[in-house]
Amino acid sequence: MKILAIETSCDETAVAILESLGDIKGASITILGNALYSQASLHAEYGGVYPSLAKREHQSNLAPLATRALKEAGLFKTPSKTTTINRSSLESIRDEAFKLSVEKFLTDTEKPDIDMIAVTKGPGLEPALWTGINFAEALGTHWKIPVTGIDHLEGHLVSAILKKTSPKTLEVTHVEFPILSLLISGGHTEFIVMSEPFKYKELGGTRDDAVGEAFDKVARLLDIPYPGGPGVSALASLSRSRGEKNAIQFPRPMLQDDSCDFSFSGLKTAVLYKIRDMKQLSESDKQNIAEAFEDSVRDVIVSKTRRAVLTARPKIFAIGGGVSANTEIRRALIELMQSEFPDIKITFPEDDLTGDNAVMIGAAALLRGEHHIKTSDVLTAFGNLRLAE
Ligand code: KG4
Ligand code: ZN
Repeated sequence: MKILAIETSCDETAVAILESLGDIKGASITILGNALYSQASLHAEYGGVYPSLAKREHQSNLAPLATRALKEAGLFKTPSKTTTINRSSLESIRDEAFKLSVEKFLTDTEKPDIDMIAVTKGPGLEPALWTGINFAEALGTHWKIPVTGIDHLEGHLVSAILKKTSPKTLEVTHVEFPILSLLISGGHTEFIVMSEPFKYKELGGTRDDAVGEAFDKVARLLDIPYPGGPGVSALASLSRSRGEKNAIQFPRPMLQDDSCDFSFSGLKTAVLYKIRDMKQLSESDKQNIAEAFEDSVRDVIVSKTRRAVLTARPKIFAIGGGVSANTEIRRALIELMQSEFPDIKITFPEDDLTGDNAVMIGAAALLRGEHHIKTSDVLTAFGNLRLAE
């Protein structure tokens, strides 16, 4: 089974082509082509993702990225005779420039040996999601292959159980249920339990800001460009490496609360007040603030994870989303699991699959198996799509 996968939920435009054998109980997935363009630097001047800019960038980059992925996969051919584009393929596309680019792509590309298309249907920025969905549907209609919508968070969850056995091969092995997943990204902070394949229950989540969002907001306060998570974390590790006691401390919100919920907006405000009180910040002050902030986030995540593990009693603990790249949070979660829950397997995504990408979207569709994709879904973008109740 070969799949073309598309991700456009936020500020990464990505197209991947994957081939697989198996399902979530055991699979081997080959990455045939993978093209990703991050718009992050374009959004930096706005301090966050600017939805109409994201949409415009997705529109101009999707067709070139799809061509690149098909070429890398060895599946790109120009048609021997002129193809006529069925108008219904382009029906859902309103923007004229985007329509022209999709029409040109379909005219210049012979139908490749692809069995299906997977596209992110939510959650995310709706104008951005629609761009991917409209592109997927144009290709699916023209090539007469099914199109399936995938939840972005399912992609992040699945990314944590994919293990690289070679630069282009991902394996899924020894999957046992329940899987407890901690999804930590710019838009989400949630504990989700997968009790059996693709059956989800939410155990807790943030009541206000997502953890990545808190990192990004603190980054802005420290003059670190968007996306600020990696920058804040780099400053924190400079402070930590000095090995001195940090004079700055921030609260650990919701630590005493007996739910698996989080709240990060008060922590961000505490950082704001601290910076205001200190007036002039030296480089080492910034590093100490970053460390104190990261320590608070880490301690809350560790404590809530302990509670979630005791509640869900999982066989696997899988961490996904952009913040799963954070070294300090990773280290502390590994330490927690090894010392208190050594029988539970802990797993993170490969380094190049922590952030948004199309490989995780295609992999989720492939692991769902063929029964899921016999017919096309009626696709709608859902900005607030929820993986579980
Ligand atoms: O999953 P992702 O690429 O996009 C969303 O679906 O949101 O996550 C992006 C988020 C941003 O908030 C970014 O600052 C954060 O992940 N992030 C990090 C790190 N790397 C990325 N946060 C903390 N430490 C990191 N190393
Ligand atoms: Zn994401």
